[in-house]
Amino acid sequence: MGIQIGAKPDSGFDDPLGMLTDCHRRIERFLDVLCLVADRATGRAMTDEETAAVQASLQYFRVGGQRHNADEEESLFPRPRESSARDKFNEIHALLSDHQDANHLHGTVEKLYEKWVSAGTLELKDQGELLSVTQRLKRLYTEHIQMEEQVVFPRAAKLLTSDAIHAIGQEFRARRELSSPDAELGSTASSAPSSAPLPAPS
Ligand SMILES: [Fe+2]
Ligand SMILES: [Fe+2]
Repeated sequence: MGIQIGAKPDSGFDDPLGMLTDCHRRIERFLDVLCLVADRATGRAMTDEETAAVQASLQYFRVGGQRHNADEEESLFPRPRESSARDKFNEIHALLSDHQDANHLHGTVEKLYEKWVSAGTLELKDQGELLSVTQRLKRLYTEHIQMEEQVVFPRAAKLLTSDAIHAIGQEFRARRELSSPDAELGSTASSAPSSAPLPAPS
C-alpha cells in the first residue's frame, strides 16, 4: 500500500474499487493542469514550469489514464454485466462510450499542446480549440466520475462476492506488473500533481 504524507493512504489491491476512486482524484488533478494552462497561458509561450506540468499530465493520461480505463473495461464492468443484475448496468454502455469520447478529446489536446511546446506559441484558432476541448473533457469527466462513484461502484460493491473482488484486485496487480515499473500505487511518476510546478491561479 502506497503512503502519501498528509493524505489518505492509497487503496491497495484488496480494495480495487477504492483504487479506482483514488485514480479519479488523480485524473481530476491532472486534468485541472491541462485546463488551467490552456486558460492562463493564452497568447504567450508556456513557462518552463507550465510545460513540465503539462507534459507530466499528458504522460499521466497516456499511461495511468489508459490503465484506469482497462481496469474498468476489462476487470470491473464485465462482472456485473455477466451477473443476474445485468439489466441494472445499462449505465455501463454510456460509460464505455464516454471512454471513447475522452480518448478522442485527449488526442486533440495532446496534438495541440505538442504544437504549442514545439512552436513556442499557438495560433488563435488552435488556442480556442484547446480551451474548448479541455473544457469539454472537464465536463465529460465530471459527469462520468459522478456516475461511477455514485451509482456503478456502490452497486458493484453490493453485488460482487469477495472472491470476485479478490480476482479484480489480482487483475489490477497483473496489469501494473505488465504495463510499467512505475505502477499506479505509490508511484511518483503517476502521482497527482499536488506539488505540480505551476504558479497558483491568479
Ligand atoms: Fe470510466
Ligand atoms: Fe473511472
